[in-house]
Amino acid sequence: MSENRPLVETRNLCKYFDTPRGQLHAVEEVNLSIKAGETLGVVGESGCGKSTLGRVILRLIPPTRGEVYYEGENILEYRGKQLKKMHVNMQMIFQDPFTSLNPRLSISNIIAEPMKVCGLVRNRREMAERVRELMEVCGLPARYVNTYPHELDGGRRQRVGLARALAVDPKFIVCDEPVSALDVSIQAQILNLLMDLQEQKGVSYLFITHDLCVVRHISHQIMVMYMGQVVEFAEKNELFKNPLHPYTKALLSAIPTIDLSRRNRERQLLRGEVANPINPKPGCRFAPRCAYAAQECLEPQTLREVAPGHKVACWRCQG
Ligand SMILES: Nc1ncnc2c1ncn2[C@@H]1O[C@H](COP(=O)(O)OP(=O)(O)O)[C@@H](O)[C@H]1O
Ligand SMILES: [Mg+2]
Repeated sequence: MSENRPLVETRNLCKYFDTPRGQLHAVEEVNLSIKAGETLGVVGESGCGKSTLGRVILRLIPPTRGEVYYEGENILEYRGKQLKKMHVNMQMIFQDPFTSLNPRLSISNIIAEPMKVCGLVRNRREMAERVRELMEVCGLPARYVNTYPHELDGGRRQRVGLARALAVDPKFIVCDEPVSALDVSIQAQILNLLMDLQEQKGVSYLFITHDLCVVRHISHQIMVMYMGQVVEFAEKNELFKNPLHPYTKALLSAIPTIDLSRRNRERQLLRGEVANPINPKPGCRFAPRCAYAAQECLEPQTLREVAPGHKVACWRCQG
């Protein structure tokens, strides 16, 4: 595989939910591309469609339309054996380490389960050996092997979730807010573990979070979502240095700072919540909260490249 070929790609990916009040556009025309060994961070407020995007990519729920490619193949067309292979390559780590582990299974059985499902080990001894190895990689002391999830704290549970995802040696992992439920000091440990694994094994991540400090730490590229749509996409340093979309700017200005010289800098606070995108109108979905809203915002906004690798969906920023 050539260096620059993407590992995972989506094309015009959409997911709509039928609700009693109309069609809810949770994910709208998302085009993304993740290279081997890299992390694409997805940020946006709660309800903007991040988890739905991750689920559709892993086929946990079907898309309304659009395509998902893994190494150039449309995985939405996969059936039977191919699907099994897909699950070996693509895994997920969930936000809540308290509900995402089966409380009735021991730690060793939780970690072993995906290997059993995918038929990856020949016998019990091999399985036990592999579980031991995964626990070590994820920083879980061997004494926990026969304990149950309720006996572990949040950080250790999330390490179990990670060991389970790694058990099949995936090349791509969707991390859905994997550290949001953890204390800050434990967050850093888990993030560093994920980054070490990336360096050693070349895993790619789609890393979902609402936390900009976390996304800055872990991502190569960042995608900003608002109400199901991508409003900005750029390389990490470029996005933090030169945010263009009014929504991205508002998000960045809301990061708490302890730098005293910046204390009086005006903060563009985001007012109100993200509304449910039910039967949305064609114009910019952020316009009702945007300080710069104008007549032009009633037109559909397209994501355009304004500098190499930097895309934004706002007519004001497109020169
Ligand atoms: N199964 C579902 N049925 C109806 N609406 C849903 C369903 N799942 C998610 N939604 C809606 O889709 C939108 C995006 O949700 P979600 O992807 O969970 O956002 P995020 O992960 O960014 O917080 C929200 O408005 C949510 O209420
Ligand atoms: Mg979510």
